[in-house]
Amino acid sequence: MFDFEFHNPTKIIFGRNKETLIGQILTEAGIRKVLFVYGKGSIKRSGLFERITKSLEQHAIGTIEFGGVNSNPLLSHTREGVRLAIEEDVDAVLAVGGGSVLDEAKAIAVGALGNTDVWNYFIGQEVSAALPVYSVLTLAATGSEMNGNAVVTNEETQQKYNIASPLVYPQVSILNPELTYSVPPDYTAYGAVDAIAHVIEAYFTRKSAPLLQDRLVENIITTVMETTEQILQTPDSYDARAEFMWAATLALNGITTVGVEEYSFPNHMIEHSLSAMYNIPHGAGLAIVIPAFMRWFHPRNPGPFERFATMIFGLDSADAGIEALEQWFARIQAPIRLKDVGIPAGDIEKIAANGAGLAKLWGIDATYDQAAIAEILKFAA
Ligand code: NZQ
Ligand code: ZN
Repeated sequence: MFDFEFHNPTKIIFGRNKETLIGQILTEAGIRKVLFVYGKGSIKRSGLFERITKSLEQHAIGTIEFGGVNSNPLLSHTREGVRLAIEEDVDAVLAVGGGSVLDEAKAIAVGALGNTDVWNYFIGQEVSAALPVYSVLTLAATGSEMNGNAVVTNEETQQKYNIASPLVYPQVSILNPELTYSVPPDYTAYGAVDAIAHVIEAYFTRKSAPLLQDRLVENIITTVMETTEQILQTPDSYDARAEFMWAATLALNGITTVGVEEYSFPNHMIEHSLSAMYNIPHGAGLAIVIPAFMRWFHPRNPGPFERFATMIFGLDSADAGIEALEQWFARIQAPIRLKDVGIPAGDIEKIAANGAGLAKLWGIDATYDQAAIAEILKFAA
């Protein structure tokens, strides 16, 4: 086992109706005024907006509304949020929505206490302060509810980059599986692909990993696959939504990579170019990139690919495991080729050039230069 430090400061409150506790939770933390961040309207349609507002009113918490967050949040809207948070002198940022809302809320929290334009924190400047972030999650996928990442797209430069800081872990995240009943089949499938993606990055790329960690990853994958199939049949199955939701949280809260030696996130690095340039859902982009990446990468680290085929699908070769995962993505109606989302193969060099920028920022450009990224994407053509 490789040496590690592990500290996850987010408190999770999990279960039915827990969102009604938000006013009390904020009051106990001494918060009197929040920036209430949400998306394009799903929380208004579901009635969640009203329940949250009522809880805040009951505890006399001042509320500055800031809706309209894009799926794949944008820098321009984030900057507006930063301006509003500063003008209104809020004590905290409350995010109610999916990963996009949580991520933009985290970025606003950083920008509000920062001494420079918020984008600088995405391109290397260290975060030195952030407003406290609280969240009520409505879509299980990204793990943002229990991690220190915030991903935002700079629409002028088409760079989809992230802030990574211990200061943006939510203080408290409320997870009520019932709030995810209304997530449609396409986003349920994309969420499944994303959660699986989060655990297989290190599983496939690592130099070494403890058996405990491999087994943890395999459990998360099989749980996500089984519950996805149940949810697609019965969208309001509490237990399936609950296990799916918690599996997605565990997939990117740091627990699966403790003790794992040398790993990277190349599928995410490449996918972020797809969603930055074509505004496709993150999980859809991953379903295209992952099988391509696996075909390109598996000769470089065959052990985990063979293990994956056996443990997940009961198959005896790396190639068969890759094929089976791709077929499963197709079965849940996720796209598996660039053309499935209307991206022409002629764009591959342009995408690879975009990806090379993020590879450099993440320090993985020795392996993933523009030529390597293009080679990988050709498997998705
Ligand atoms: O905007 P609204 O109206 O809320 O609609 C959203 C959006 O259209 C809708 N939705 C959310 N909850 C719903 C619902 N519809 C019905 N019922 C509900 N309960 O679903 C759509 C997608 O929402 P979004 O938040 O964009 O999805 P997701 O949670 O997958 O977040 C994706 C973003 O997170 C980033 C991605 O790159 C992408 O920008 N990621 C964040 C990570 C992190 N912070 O750690 C890691 C990931 O790898 C990922 O990069
Ligand atoms: Zn992801």
